[in-house]
Amino acid sequence: MDILRLIENAYNAKKNSYAPYSGFHVGAALLTAEGKIYQGCNIENAAYSPTNCAERTAFFKAVSEGEKDFKAIAVVGDKEEYLAPCGVCRQVMTEFCSAGEFQVVLAKNRTEYKIFTLEELLPGAFSKQNLL
Ligand code: THU
Repeated sequence: MDILRLIENAYNAKKNSYAPYSGFHVGAALLTAEGKIYQGCNIENAAYSPTNCAERTAFFKAVSEGEKDFKAIAVVGDKEEYLAPCGVCRQVMTEFCSAGEFQVVLAKNRTEYKIFTLEELLPGAFSKQNLL
């Protein structure tokens, strides 16, 4: 996988961020097992709670197109620092991705990044196993 290309796609997604209330623009790029990339941005709302994070936008776009097998997601913001995905997004990732293999790439610029697994980001997550 070309991580730098995934990060570039996340920056591209951020251009469409709709964040008039927080002014906090986020972009994400989700890579499928077959190598397709789905971009997502955060979409805010005047009622605040309907706001959707960039990561979930990317996931929901992909899943609604029939994708269920993912390799990695890159997440970027405006600031030169690593942006931590929120708890809700971590839970959504957990639904579709292997906790030990899926890579969450947090980039603070176009070349500097850190990679985490979901095991690290959401240990002990509630999952479909708990419903059996
Ligand atoms: N946001 C994301 O898009 N992803 C995250 O992981 C953290 C937060 C968005 C939601 C909201 O539009 C803005 O950042 C401020 O919270």
